[in-house]
Amino acid sequence: MSFLSQEKIAEIRDSVDIVDIISNYVSLVPKGKNYFGVCPFHDDNNPSMSVNKDKKIYKCFSCGATGTVFKFVMDYENISFIEAVKKVGESAGINVNLGKIEKPRNNTKLHDIYDLSLKFYINNINTAAGKEAKDYLHGRGITDEIIKEFQIGLALNGKDKLSNLLLKKFDEKEVMKSGLINKNAYGYLDLFYDRIMFPLYDLNGNVVAYSGRIYNKEDNSKYFNTWETEVFKKGELLYNYHRAKDIARQKNQIIVTEGFMDVIRCHSIGIKNVVATMGTAVTKEQAILIKKMAKDVILCFDGDEAGAKATMACSDLLLSLGVTPKIIRLENNMDPDEYIVKHGNDFESKIKHTINIMDFKLDYLKHGKNLNNTVDEAKYVNEAIKEIKKIDDEILQELTIKKVAKETELDEALIRSKIEPVQKVKEIKQKPKPKVKIDKYEMAERNLIYYMLRSTEVIKMYNAKVTYMPTKEYRLLAREIKMFYKDNGFINEADLIDYVECDEETLKTLSKVEEANLKENFSIEEIEDYINVIKDYNIKYEVNRLTTQMKQELDPLKKAEIAQKIVNLKKECNNV
Ligand code: CTP
Ligand code: MN
Repeated sequence: MSFLSQEKIAEIRDSVDIVDIISNYVSLVPKGKNYFGVCPFHDDNNPSMSVNKDKKIYKCFSCGATGTVFKFVMDYENISFIEAVKKVGESAGINVNLGKIEKPRNNTKLHDIYDLSLKFYINNINTAAGKEAKDYLHGRGITDEIIKEFQIGLALNGKDKLSNLLLKKFDEKEVMKSGLINKNAYGYLDLFYDRIMFPLYDLNGNVVAYSGRIYNKEDNSKYFNTWETEVFKKGELLYNYHRAKDIARQKNQIIVTEGFMDVIRCHSIGIKNVVATMGTAVTKEQAILIKKMAKDVILCFDGDEAGAKATMACSDLLLSLGVTPKIIRLENNMDPDEYIVKHGNDFESKIKHTINIMDFKLDYLKHGKNLNNTVDEAKYVNEAIKEIKKIDDEILQELTIKKVAKETELDEALIRSKIEPVQKVKEIKQKPKPKVKIDKYEMAERNLIYYMLRSTEVIKMYNAKVTYMPTKEYRLLAREIKMFYKDNGFINEADLIDYVECDEETLKTLSKVEEANLKENFSIEEIEDYINVIKDYNIKYEVNRLTTQMKQELDPLKKAEIAQKIVNLKKECNNV
């Protein structure tokens, strides 16, 4: 529960314009009474999200995401309800003093284990045993200040130092879940020893894993990572996300690198809107996170062939999400870390003079081909056409068509004719999904709630006449509405949403109810009809239950008693 009063939360919500706030994240276009934009909460390119200025609610017609301005900020920034209230409040000039906000944590025990391991590793690097590791880092130009900021530590040269420490404090079962400890016939073993430890963070900035680097010997694995755990899924995180996201949003620019050393190096020359994908193929979750941080996405992967390939793959994922990234390629196979060490602030000019995605792709496609050879040339054009189809930006499409036509001396019209059919396919994809049919009982519950959200009269009727909603999700929502009304004496959807602190389940049900899209006016008879249908359902259910009971009853007297009950119930019923 929050420390903020409902009034304060409502004051903050009402003092901002939901359209203004959401516009900071996605662009909205007015259409009729509402504003529309591309929903950032699912994989989409179409403007399926509508924002209602008066109701102070947004809703996505495709994925069903809905809520107030707080819910939007919560989900977009991956922060808690209270943090979102604070953030929105501050943007409206309202000071929300909450003291220190705890980072949201989804598995306390594992987080505690990681907190202790972090203290241990950081301590180690600052002891005499850590001198060699420090020298190594200093030798790479990593200052003590950076070591401190990025919480770089050291796993000592012993096989069970961390195991001993953790097993003294925590249950063996929990410790084994941390991905830090191994067990064999002889006992417990640390997963990491004699490695420099780079903590990896979740989206909220909790340490949830490590990448350990060798520094004083040859080893075929330069880096070694913690195993995946309940709180660490490498493909769902971006290194440095929690530090970079606000700066990226302010600048509206995010730079994506492969390695955390690249991030740390950029940071050391004052470039802080940088994250790393951490080597492996970029996942869709990561691409969505990138998209959420800024409009201007710059991919700066390693300068080698693998980096170029990764740039192609990551660009395609981003393009499928409607983001057209810009590209930096570094010469001599350098990674950003090496480039900055060698050329210092020249890196800034790389950021200013990025390559456009299509120029990069055309260049990439030419690798290993001889364009004087007709077969290679045809292959090149076909591959280029495939790439042109992937971009949304019509102008960029047109310019690239011209470029390819010119370099191959082909007719532009021919290339264009190969590209057009795709757009048709896209239009077909945009068709709305068919509505799911629901039975009359569920419909009665849903419609009743629809009007409970709009009229206190209906809530009063519900209170007086409905004892039980058969469907769990509706039952829970009705209960929230009832409680809200009892506390406040009025009903309003935006207030209700904030009252439940944007609870995910409640919002899902609300979204379903709103999909009913009924007319705003209703008659008391209609409401009574819904209530009767619900009542009938409950009676039917009870009749079924008693019938089973009666069949199993051996005592004829009791059997008759139950039969009488059933008859009475059936009399109450309207249309069984
Ligand atoms: N990586 C990993 N697991 C490995 C190897 C690499 O998770 N076994 C990730 C790390 O996040 C690393 C990134 O991939 O930061 C890039 O790897 P690499 O290019 O090999 O390392 P560098 O960034 O060049 O690191 P350094 O400069 O320290 O050699
Ligand atoms: Mn490197």
